[in-house]
Amino acid sequence: MSTVAIVTAAGSGSRLGSDVPKALVPLGGVPLLLHAARRVLAAGIADLVVSAPADASDAVRALLGADQALAGARVTVVDGGPSRQASVAAALAAVGVEADVVLVHDAARALTPPDLIARVAAAVRAGHRAVVPGLPVTDTVKEVEDVAADGAARVRGTPDRARLRAVQTPQGFDRALLDAAHAAGAARAGDEALAATDDAALVEALGEDVWVVPGDRAAMKITTAEDLLLAELLLRR
Ligand code: CTP
Ligand code: MG
Repeated sequence: MSTVAIVTAAGSGSRLGSDVPKALVPLGGVPLLLHAARRVLAAGIADLVVSAPADASDAVRALLGADQALAGARVTVVDGGPSRQASVAAALAAVGVEADVVLVHDAARALTPPDLIARVAAAVRAGHRAVVPGLPVTDTVKEVEDVAADGAARVRGTPDRARLRAVQTPQGFDRALLDAAHAAGAARAGDEALAATDDAALVEALGEDVWVVPGDRAAMKITTAEDLLLAELLLRR
């Protein structure tokens, strides 16, 4: 089976508050995107499609092309879109016809261990058509509605925590299923604000099963400056 990894890196990183795109922000002196891409290659996946911010795609192409650690990889860079969903769709359109398993990974999950990436790919190859890594939730989570003028929100309910998982990437898919899920998702998402925040949700919307396998804390998403500090600690450990 032929496996391709999409690494989506087209976000601006507004919550991180940096003046360069988040994928280019250094962690231990190495841009987040390079950390992520190197770990994908270390997991045995040498075909990568990266979605980059349109105004930084040349810089991203140069960065990936010059990295000695990626010398064994075949990397294609495409322009991302206004939402994560659109950026993944743009990358998926550039995945070669021979691919039958596609992983979708966030560049922002820079320290995702190669063995987690390999486990997700293996679970898809073993026959689960949609696989996401996830961890049990330690907070009690409330569903809310009706935000009041002072910012308080009324609680609708408390889902049973034992049944919740906080999911990560890479998410792995049978290629035909991911194509169908994105085609249906693109037809629905006229409004950017309604775009899905992960690919599994698009598969769920088709009524297809999605399977959760154990995730890893090191696959944390770097969203805020505090997350970046935590990632620096994890990297040094
Ligand atoms: N992403 C993308 N295209 C977008 C938005 C996000 O490819 N239009 C990617 C990001 O580059 C990141 C992943 O999706 O690797 C998860 O998104 P997030 O952590 O929200 O990153 P940003 O959108 O860059 O950050 P923010 O929401 O704070 O602006
Ligand atoms: Mg975002």
